[in-house]
Amino acid sequence: MTNAMACPVNHGFNPLGDDYVADPYPILSGVRDETPAFYAQSIDMWVITRFDDIQAALMDPATFSAAVGQRPVFPLTEEAQSIIKAGFRAYPVMSDCDPPRHTRIRRHNQKGFSARRISVLEPKVWAKATELVDAIEPGVVDLVSALTYPLPAYMIFTFIGFPDEDMDMLKSWCGNRIAFSWGRPSADEQQVIANNMVNYWRYCEEFVAKRLAEPVDDFTSDLIRIHQADPESLSVPDITNVAYGLSFAGHETTTSFTGNAVRRLLANREQWDDLCADRSLIPQAVEEVLRYDSSIPAWRRITTKAVTVGGVDIPANAKILLLLGAANRDPKHFEAAETFDIHRTDVRKHLAFGQGIHYCIGAALARMEARVALDLFAQRAPGMRMVEEQDFDFPANISFRGPRKLLVHWPE
Ligand code: HEM
Repeated sequence: MTNAMACPVNHGFNPLGDDYVADPYPILSGVRDETPAFYAQSIDMWVITRFDDIQAALMDPATFSAAVGQRPVFPLTEEAQSIIKAGFRAYPVMSDCDPPRHTRIRRHNQKGFSARRISVLEPKVWAKATELVDAIEPGVVDLVSALTYPLPAYMIFTFIGFPDEDMDMLKSWCGNRIAFSWGRPSADEQQVIANNMVNYWRYCEEFVAKRLAEPVDDFTSDLIRIHQADPESLSVPDITNVAYGLSFAGHETTTSFTGNAVRRLLANREQWDDLCADRSLIPQAVEEVLRYDSSIPAWRRITTKAVTVGGVDIPANAKILLLLGAANRDPKHFEAAETFDIHRTDVRKHLAFGQGIHYCIGAALARMEARVALDLFAQRAPGMRMVEEQDFDFPANISFRGPRKLLVHWPE
């Protein structure tokens, strides 16, 4: 250690503990106020807590490699390992990939996610969201199953090009995937998830082969055309990996985020009423939820060499957890940081989508989907109320956060 800071080992910090899973924010703020970095025994990771240090780590991919982004936190059973080994041929292409491969593959994907391309998708998002809202009956409704789950799933699958008739099968293979790499699934769960991952992977291989034989008008076919023009710069397995990765990254992140948004807005009734009275407030409400209660409150890196963070020495090859949720409430950067306020003016600086070379490629899509969902809710059900005293159930894992169910009273 290079300074006289409190011992950097925190024996109590456990992102899989019940209190953290129920509400991580008091714990995130506590550790951030106490120390810039510490070692957490429960997950065998070094944890970085403050905005400036997290931003610096995100901007320094040579020291903070992304390679561990999807690696299981805890060792897998031999059975799960052998299922994966036999049938799952995925390799890093974006979120868990470092330059130069990351640079090459991201460049080809970036175009598909430009603000212009996303704005072309917006009418389709409105159409699907309207269809889902039309189907809601007055009374107690779970908004996750009614809209926040099916909307992003449908949009990302359609964007990639997966046919409508496969959606239910694909969704069933996604179940509990988060637990595999970010949680602590039981041996039985590991086996089920591993088999689903293999099924999903094979499906992506076959799907990309079909598009290779006959490209159409979708994102995967755009990648196929790039491959055909220059096979060296994007291979067919690269494309399969992108399809596999996007179908996961573009899905539950946004489901959880939209659930968090509705929950926070209804809990702050006067802000929900403001938003319903003036729907032009929706984009900044979306930013405030990203800051205050994002669906990815923590993300991972691994150090390539020894580094000092806020005066705390961290060794080479240290697994790192960046507490984005703590950074986004860092009082050095946000006034009244612990207060949810859709009217705040300093909100855009948040780190909910990361920063630098791995900045979330789906940020514009996620923002747009959440905005459309909130707009429709505000138009159709301004009087909607949260069902009181419901037990919110959040999945136990180190990175993803959103309620599994969100019960509201949907008005007549
Ligand atoms: C509100 C919803 C979302 C949140 C909070 C979120 C957050 C994040 C974060 C924190 C990262 C990691 C940045 C880093 O490692 O530095 C990331 C990366 C990524 N996200 Fe998102 N994301 C969301 C939605 C989406 C959507 C809808 C898609 C796809 C359609 C997507 C695709 C990706 C991909 C591919 C990466 C890796 C990019 C790279 O490494 O170059 N995300 N996202």
